[in-house]
Amino acid sequence: MNRCLLVTGGAGFIGSNFVHYWCQHYPENRVVVLDALTYAGNRANLAKLEERENFRFVRGDICDRSLVEQLLQSENIDTIAHFAAESHVDRSILEPGAFVKTNVVGTYTLLEAFRQHWQINSKPAHYRFLHVSTDEVYGSLGPDDPAFSETTPYAPNSPYSASKAGSDHLVRAYYHTYKLPTIITNCSNNYGPYQFPEKLIPLTCINILMGKPLPVYGDGKNVRDWLYVGDHCSALDAVIHRGIPGETYNIGGNNEVENINLVRMICQLMDELAPSNLPVRPAENLITFVKDRPGHDRRYAINATKIKTQLGWTPSVTLSEGLRLTAKWYLNHHRWWQPLLSPDYQDYYQKNYIFS
Ligand SMILES: NC(=O)c1ccc[n+]([C@@H]2O[C@H](COP(=O)([O-])OP(=O)(O)OC[C@H]3O[C@@H](n4cnc5c(N)ncnc54)[C@H](O)[C@@H]3O)[C@@H](O)[C@H]2O)c1
Repeated sequence: MNRCLLVTGGAGFIGSNFVHYWCQHYPENRVVVLDALTYAGNRANLAKLEERENFRFVRGDICDRSLVEQLLQSENIDTIAHFAAESHVDRSILEPGAFVKTNVVGTYTLLEAFRQHWQINSKPAHYRFLHVSTDEVYGSLGPDDPAFSETTPYAPNSPYSASKAGSDHLVRAYYHTYKLPTIITNCSNNYGPYQFPEKLIPLTCINILMGKPLPVYGDGKNVRDWLYVGDHCSALDAVIHRGIPGETYNIGGNNEVENINLVRMICQLMDELAPSNLPVRPAENLITFVKDRPGHDRRYAINATKIKTQLGWTPSVTLSEGLRLTAKWYLNHHRWWQPLLSPDYQDYYQKNYIFS
């Protein structure tokens, strides 16, 4: 089937990886990116695609109903892959308002516009609204709790996860109320190329290259389940092509690791990959514990059995392989990340981390 996709947030980290993935695997499909280019959006992430006939970039806000309606109609969109969001927990603690607006009101705006578009076109069966969400909606696990499954009750603890939970509920309701063919995915932490420098893995790589302290929250024993972004893209491919409308699929990497151990792994990789030009060696000497994030969830873990058994998807990249690919990418892409360390970025950094 020759799909026509609207990818919201396609200039962000996962969105741009997904657009590259899709254009490579399905070059006959048309891809339209709608992105507001907030601090986290970067058109340069898509530079290699701009010349393609089947690709279009539109700068705009998902809350702009008339723009969304006009794009759905003029581009004859049948599939929305919805990544656009305010995505950083730390920023949601400092300024929650933008999270409610984009994540809740923006998702509602897309759902309404897509519902109208689907109805006007006589409700085609192949239309899809893929809502890309997070495992953080499930709250925090104790050390021995079973991993999150699709039936785990929602218990969001941060303004970020609460706003994503709100959007998930709306997406679910549009299926149940209108039979709009929506699908939700809840994924664990992603890492890989094009991730904005303030997130843990790029922050660690970049600060090592600059010889700056590596902030680690609290005792460093918070556990996350890490997934290489390319594996997330292949999971979303499986969901768009084979997922059942109305269903939710959890996506995870089976890679639970404590933050402090993750940071140590990256330090060792950087020592090995950039031996001659590191300002501080061993890089572990830069590790600095900082005041914990308020309400910091202790552990996330994903049970990805459903997507494995029903859609045949499993991750293909191990954590050590993925970290090596990622460390090399940041090492070789100074020109991508250096301009992102702007005064705004420094301002956020100063507000967020309390070094004792
Ligand atoms: N990063 C992760 O580890 C992770 C894990 C699970 C789920 N998710 C989800 O995946 C999605 C993408 O995450 P990411 O890490 O790529 O985020 P990101 O912050 O890197 O990118 C978000 C993109 O959305 C755009 N955007 C923000 N507000 C917008 C608006 N109002 N209108 C249009 N565009 C807007 C930004 O400009 C940016 O390009 C999010 O919905 C997030 O909740 C992320």
